[in-house]
Amino acid sequence: MRVPDYPIGRPPATPSLAAILRERIQRDGPLRFADFMALALYEPTLGYYARETRQVGRDGDFFTSVSVGPLFGELLARRFLHEWRTLGSPARWRIIECGAHDGSLAHDILQAIAQLDPKAFSALEYAIPEPLPRLQAAQREKLATFDRQTRFLTDASELVADPRPGIAFGNELLDALPFHVVERNENRWSECRVAINRDDQLGWEMHPITDATLREALARLGDDFPDGYRTEVRTNFSDFLEPLTRSLTAGLLLWPDYGFARPEYYHPDRKTGTLRTFSKHRAAEDPLATPGEMDITAHVDFTAVAEAAIALGCQPTVFRNQGAWLTQIGREWLLSLEGQTASAELRQFQTLTHPAHLGGSFHVLELSWNQAAPGPSAADCHRLALQACPPHQSR
Ligand SMILES: C[S@@+](CC[C@H](N)C(=O)[O-])C[C@H]1O[C@@H](n2cnc3c(N)ncnc32)[C@H](O)[C@@H]1O
Repeated sequence: MRVPDYPIGRPPATPSLAAILRERIQRDGPLRFADFMALALYEPTLGYYARETRQVGRDGDFFTSVSVGPLFGELLARRFLHEWRTLGSPARWRIIECGAHDGSLAHDILQAIAQLDPKAFSALEYAIPEPLPRLQAAQREKLATFDRQTRFLTDASELVADPRPGIAFGNELLDALPFHVVERNENRWSECRVAINRDDQLGWEMHPITDATLREALARLGDDFPDGYRTEVRTNFSDFLEPLTRSLTAGLLLWPDYGFARPEYYHPDRKTGTLRTFSKHRAAEDPLATPGEMDITAHVDFTAVAEAAIALGCQPTVFRNQGAWLTQIGREWLLSLEGQTASAELRQFQTLTHPAHLGGSFHVLELSWNQAAPGPSAADCHRLALQACPPHQSR
């Protein structure tokens, strides 16, 4: 799958990530934060995600819904099977999982589909685009028992020649896509780039906005911001989503992640944005401190995702907090519990849905896709995206 700024090619000869960053800054000048983040997380051998697979879970740096247990995968499997039936139970269908990490969620989903609907299972191709070799090796190992269903790729564009009906999704994937950092002063935005400061350390440097795509994205945020307001903006959703839509004839794109609708994300009171780093379950805010040693993330502007998807011809159909969404798709499973009050699965459900855990701050955006349906005019994308992602929603 193609994401701008995702570094591709041979790793430089220098062994340390800090040395690579310095070399890049000395050669090309201050780095855009998205380029810095792409190197810090995804440099093919030294990046945070390239070096090992232990980032997620109790012994790692952070939890995700996958760490809670297999129930998340089972509920996703139920949603995907519903989609398969809605599509007319096609004889060949595809699930594309992006950001599959060590393959745990894929394993939970495949196991559940095999149990719930053997016919759908035998018609399924489960495709995992993964540019990082170490993660792909972990996925192949974890999914060895599903070798008839799985397909491993480095890039989603490899599927475009043979599109099928199905689903593309990624759990906590969009928050890991590189973003730009910007600051507002005297009614003007500047881009915060990464430079080498007078103390010979990595530091921030302000630059005028020269990138037209970033300028357009900033124009959509309005202009009611106090001086010193710092935030993040992603301009790569369209490049990310496009090969996924082209790999599916019809179906669903689905994105669970932490984030907000735009009016909540870019609220004037959110003066320091949402950029965070994670290491050993501790959140911090200085992404320049130890590049390659910690995760770097920021919340997702779901309105921007919807805008990019609408422009590609998708239709946003659901935007809900994870608690409400899982309760809806898990109805049949909940009814099947028949009066049980305590079980490992119920505890997982509570963690996944409780507003104080993962149910409140996480949201799910569903987009329906049909290659044959006409897309809206460019002028309509903005209005439709704002309607699709209402702020403070809890439907
Ligand atoms: C926060 S982790 C989430 C892992 C897993 N989905 C989960 O929920 O536990 C983000 C993952 O997205 C992957 N990733 C980021 N950008 C990607 C891209 N363009 N293509 C495929 N994977 C990507 C990272 O390598 C990492 O494994």
